[in-house]
Amino acid sequence: AAAKGRAARGLRFSPVAPNTEDAVVVAEGHDQNVVIRWGDPILRGAPAFDPDRQSAKAQAGQFGYNNDYMAVLDVPGERDHQLLVANHEYTDEVLMFSGYDPENPTREQAEIGWAAHGLSVVVTAEERGLGRLTAVPRHRLNRRITATTPFEVTGPAAGSELLRTSADPTGRRVLGTLNNCGGGITPWGTVLSGEENFNQYFAGGDAVTDPVTAARLKRYGITGAASERKWERFDDRFDVTKEPNETNRFGWVIEIDPFDPESTPRKLTALGRFKHEAAEPRLTTDGRPVLYMGDDEKFDYFYKFVSSKRMMKGNSRTAREHNRTLLDEGTLYVAKFTGDSPATEIDGSGKLPRDGEFDGAGEWIPLASGDRSFVPGMTAEEVYVFTRIAADKAGATKMDRPEDVEPSPRTGRVYIALTNNTDRGKAGKAPADEANPRNANKHGQILELTERWNNAGSTRFTWRLFLVCGDPEDPGTYFGGFPKDQVSPISCPDNITFDAYGNLWISTDGNALGSHDGLFGVATSGSRRGEVKQFLTVPTGAETCGPIVQERRVLVAVQHPGEKDGASVEKPASTWPDGPGKLTRPSVISVWRRDGGTIGA
Ligand code: FEO
Ligand code: CA
Ligand code: CA
Ligand code: CA
Repeated sequence: AAAKGRAARGLRFSPVAPNTEDAVVVAEGHDQNVVIRWGDPILRGAPAFDPDRQSAKAQAGQFGYNNDYMAVLDVPGERDHQLLVANHEYTDEVLMFSGYDPENPTREQAEIGWAAHGLSVVVTAEERGLGRLTAVPRHRLNRRITATTPFEVTGPAAGSELLRTSADPTGRRVLGTLNNCGGGITPWGTVLSGEENFNQYFAGGDAVTDPVTAARLKRYGITGAASERKWERFDDRFDVTKEPNETNRFGWVIEIDPFDPESTPRKLTALGRFKHEAAEPRLTTDGRPVLYMGDDEKFDYFYKFVSSKRMMKGNSRTAREHNRTLLDEGTLYVAKFTGDSPATEIDGSGKLPRDGEFDGAGEWIPLASGDRSFVPGMTAEEVYVFTRIAADKAGATKMDRPEDVEPSPRTGRVYIALTNNTDRGKAGKAPADEANPRNANKHGQILELTERWNNAGSTRFTWRLFLVCGDPEDPGTYFGGFPKDQVSPISCPDNITFDAYGNLWISTDGNALGSHDGLFGVATSGSRRGEVKQFLTVPTGAETCGPIVQERRVLVAVQHPGEKDGASVEKPASTWPDGPGKLTRPSVISVWRRDGGTIGA
C-alpha cells in the first residue's frame, strides 16, 4: 500500500538525518536539557562532583556511571515530582580517572567503581513553564544501590549450595548488583533490573580444573586469568579459584521497591540465571504476572516466566506483602521459534521468502517450576543457576542477541529487539533461520510475538519479523511492509518502549551504518506500520538508552559518550555534555516541544 497522508499520531515530527555530531541532535522544534550527570550529588551529605578529588564515599552518594535502563514513576502526594530509577551498567575507568593505569588500578579506583555501579533512585521536578526537568537532590526517596549493597536472595534456588560462599554460608545474602542493563516496572509498582555481563568482573576461570565447574564457567564466559578491572586484587570474591560460587550470585533479575529507601532489594532465582537484558511484565488473562526476558549473547535464548499466583490489586499492606512473592513461584520457559517457509527459501541474505514474510509458530518449553525440573539430568536448582545449559538441552532457538523486550499495552503483542549477530552462519555456528534470517547479521531485527488467545500464559504463539534493520536501500531489509524510500535508516535496535498511541520507540547501540546511535519511533499498526522515523541522535561513542516517551517529554539516557578505542581523559573522543576541558559524563537528558505541545502531535 502506498504511504499517503501524514505520519501516525505521536510520530508527527521531521526526522533527524543520520549524522556524526558530538551532540544530542533533536527533531526540529524541540528543546533539551541535561537532567542529571554522572557524579551529581543525590544523597544528603554527598559533595559536588570534582574529578580531581573523587572518592568512593562521594560516589556512593552521587549519580552512578553509564546510565542504561530508566523507569519513571509518579510520587504519591507530590504532583510536580516524578521518581526516576536509572541503572548504572558499568564503569569506563579510562574515561573516569586521569592517568588511569589498567594494569595497576588503585584500591580507591576499584572502590569508586563499586560505588558507581548499581542503580540510582532520584526524584525529578519540572521547572514550571520552562519544560526543563531537573533532579531534586536530598529528597527523602533518593537512594543509591551499589556493588556492595546487601541483597536478599529469594525463590526456589535461595539457600542452594551452589550459592553459598565463605562470606555467606546461607546462600541468601549477596553484596551488590553488577552490570544492570534493561529492566521493567511491575504492575504492583516495583522496578526490575537485569544483571547482564557479570562475567567480566570475575578472574581465575582459566585455572579451574574440575571439568563440571569449568564447563559451567565457560558457558557463562568466565574463562580468563585476570578480570578487566582487576577487582580480584581487592576482594577475593571476584576470584573464582578462591570463591567458586560468588559468580553464581550474579546474572539474576533484581527487584527493588523504589518507594521504600530502607527496603532490601532482592535477587529473584525463579527467573533463571543468564545475561539478563530486560524483564518486561504482562498479566495472564486470569491475573498472574508474566515476565519476558532476553539473554543478550550471540546464539542465546528468549525466555518467559509465568507466576503461579495472581496479583492482588491496591496498595494495602496485605497486597504489598502478597505481591512481593509473585516472582518467586511459577514456571520458567524458553522459546522455540519455527518458520513456516521452506528452509531452502531462507538464503541468509535477508531476502523475503515466497510467502512474503519471515513468520511462523512457536512454543514455550518448560524448564523448571518450583522444585520440579523438566530437564533430564538437571535438578531444579541447577536449572535456575545454570539456565543456559538447561536451555541448550531443551532445544531452544539460538537467537541474534535478544536485547530489550516490550509488550504493547494496546495490542498485547510482544516486541523483541534482536540487536545483531555477526557470527550467524559462520563455520561451526548456527546458520540463518526464518526468525534470524541474515548471516553475518550486522544490523539486527525486531520480532513480534503473539501469544495464543493473546494470553500471556499460553505455551504456544505465532510470530513474524516486524523490522529487518539496516540501510533501507539494502534489499535485505524490511520495514513492516512500509515503502522503504520513506523511512529512516536504523541499525542495532536495543532498548524499546511504547508511547500512549501504541507506537514503538527504539533506541540503538552500535549503529553499523557509519552514523551515530539514536532514538526512533515507528507505528506498529495501521497504514503507517513500519514507517521508522528518527527523533534524535546521541554524541560520539554513546549508545541511546532507557527511552521513556511521555505525553510532553522524552527522556533518554546517554550511555558511554566518548567510548572509543584509545580514548582517555587526556585524549577524549567526546566533550559532551560540558564542552572542552571537562570530563565527558554519561547523563540523562530530557526533550520537549518548544511550544509546549504533545510529542508527535
Ligand atoms: Fe547492556 Fe545487552 O545491553
Ligand atoms: Ca514465512
Ligand atoms: Ca542493552
Ligand atoms: Ca523497555
